[in-house]
Amino acid sequence: MAGHQHTDDSGAAPPVLLTPGPLTTSERTRRAATVDWGSWDRRFNDLTASVRHRLAAASGAARPVLCVPMQGSGTFAVEAAVRTLVAPGDRLVVAVNGTYGARIADMATRAGRRAVVVEASTDVPVPVDAVADAFEQHPDARHLAVVHCETSTGLLNPVEDLADVAHQMGRALIVDAMSSFGVLDTAIDHPAVHAVVAASGKCLEGLPGMGFVLVPPDVLDAAAGRCDSLSLDLVDQHRYMERTGQWRYTPPTHVVAALHEALLQYEEEGGAPVRLDRYRANRGALDAGMAALGFRHYLHESLRTPIIQTFHSPDHPSWSFPTFYELVKQRGFVLYPGKLTTEETFRVGCIERSRPPSSPRRSAPSSRLWTQWASPSLFHRAD
Ligand SMILES: Cc1ncc(COP(=O)(O)O)c(C=O)c1O
Repeated sequence: MAGHQHTDDSGAAPPVLLTPGPLTTSERTRRAATVDWGSWDRRFNDLTASVRHRLAAASGAARPVLCVPMQGSGTFAVEAAVRTLVAPGDRLVVAVNGTYGARIADMATRAGRRAVVVEASTDVPVPVDAVADAFEQHPDARHLAVVHCETSTGLLNPVEDLADVAHQMGRALIVDAMSSFGVLDTAIDHPAVHAVVAASGKCLEGLPGMGFVLVPPDVLDAAAGRCDSLSLDLVDQHRYMERTGQWRYTPPTHVVAALHEALLQYEEEGGAPVRLDRYRANRGALDAGMAALGFRHYLHESLRTPIIQTFHSPDHPSWSFPTFYELVKQRGFVLYPGKLTTEETFRVGCIERSRPPSSPRRSAPSSRLWTQWASPSLFHRAD
């Protein structure tokens, strides 16, 4: 069982991150990052090859897909997919019902791709009909970009239905599956899905610092020469890696090594179904505790994922999220602020590892754990 033996500067065990990544990782994963690898070392190149192979397997794809890793946070990998698959000047339909969808529209526009934004409210899925209308109005838009789990709320978008419509209309999807990859079905085998993008530090429970794009080989081949960025060109990244076994530019060696170890644990644990069950159990404990405390969910139950939950801030004159955050942190847990501009909310991630039973400070998630927050003093400013 993963331990939490590390301490912060003061010698205390650091709090558990109830955030959607970076998240609390296992001792075993962190230990793998303590080895310094040379980027030319054959054993490191073997690690990279193994990580790529295991990521493709973790995707659950039945058809052949290539895994092209990309240095940087998740956004770098999403931007690499957009700029490699969509040619400069081309139109791209972007489904937006939260921050991460809006970010794709922004990165596409800045890179000279013409974004056609199909916008929905942050508490509803992107309507499939509206996307079909956008394709109808813009016959030259060959791609749709959509966020699978919109982490700014935790909402699940209907990727399979969108892929069906795209397929009927001869278009392709770029799926930002950053916070869902490894636990939820990303529709990777759908013929309209041309890219699935995710990163090391989310549900795979690795360290942050590396993204990756899963792409069918013929799609990647067809995109050769399209990318107008040197460092974000997935075709060049892939070809160089295939030729040399090495990363094109300095690899995030420690992150790769930690991800390899995290993937071994993912496989040992039983992969997606078992991890999904674990996150569902975390969500069950959270929901029970939060309901007992009177907190209300932002999203309708049918739209929520066991990745992250968004709660309305209490309508109370003494409510202060920074104070709440600090008080919860003193109890050993780190929350996440809301990302909505129209409503006061905050978020709690469910994608964390269980505590070892021996930990004196924390036990495995249970409704008792969540009701540690129950003190009414949490709702009052500490002044
Ligand atoms: C759905 C989604 N897309 C993109 C990103 C951006 O990733 P990063 O912050 O690692 O650049 C995130 C980060 O949480 C995300 O949840």
